[in-house]
Amino acid sequence: MWGKGAGLVGVELERKLASRLPTARWEHSLGTAATARRLAPRAGVNEEKAWVAGLVHDLARDMPESELLSLAASFGILVGNVERQAPELLHGPVGAELARREFGIEDVEILRAVADHTVGGPAMAPLSLLLYLADFIEPGRHFPGLEEVRAEAERDLELAALWAMEKTLCYLFRWGLPAHPRTVEGRNWLLHRLQNEGRWRSWTDGPAVACLDRRGGGGCSA
Ligand SMILES: [Fe+2]
Ligand SMILES: [Fe+2]
Repeated sequence: MWGKGAGLVGVELERKLASRLPTARWEHSLGTAATARRLAPRAGVNEEKAWVAGLVHDLARDMPESELLSLAASFGILVGNVERQAPELLHGPVGAELARREFGIEDVEILRAVADHTVGGPAMAPLSLLLYLADFIEPGRHFPGLEEVRAEAERDLELAALWAMEKTLCYLFRWGLPAHPRTVEGRNWLLHRLQNEGRWRSWTDGPAVACLDRRGGGGCSA
């Protein structure tokens, strides 16, 4: 256990989440948690924090948009133009606040990672970046172009996260969905860093999946 701010842990946390989330969402959460925990040592992240962040990250994913908007207002969460266009993006920050209030999780790195996981952002903390990537590549996801990200995650977590952001942006452009400026800022931040360090490569699975269709199976549920 990582100490103060743990809130509900272990079986109690899992039981409460399993009873609250739809089955498919709970299975996705378990897959995300297991992926985050497996990759945590390479990210320099505490394995148990990675597991808990994965379990709770989609706590608010299945709430109606009207509820997300009203909870965001009552929690004092900033609702910008993109969130007004796509209120489901609020499930990250709203979920983080619910994790604190209802599950007693006060660890700031976990709460930050849950809040960040929907759109990413610049200068992401290691746990935030790890959760973003794990959410994208967990074993229950299936969509074109994913295998290349999965393979890269075994070599370079940050390059894989860059590709996850780029593929997400491609998806949004393809399907006429708003892109959050924080996703663009996060992509530029990682790109700059990786290029400066000589670690950058472009993803290569080509124009056929440049505008990948994640509607079947994977979904843009982030
Ligand atoms: Fe999510
Ligand atoms: Fe998710």
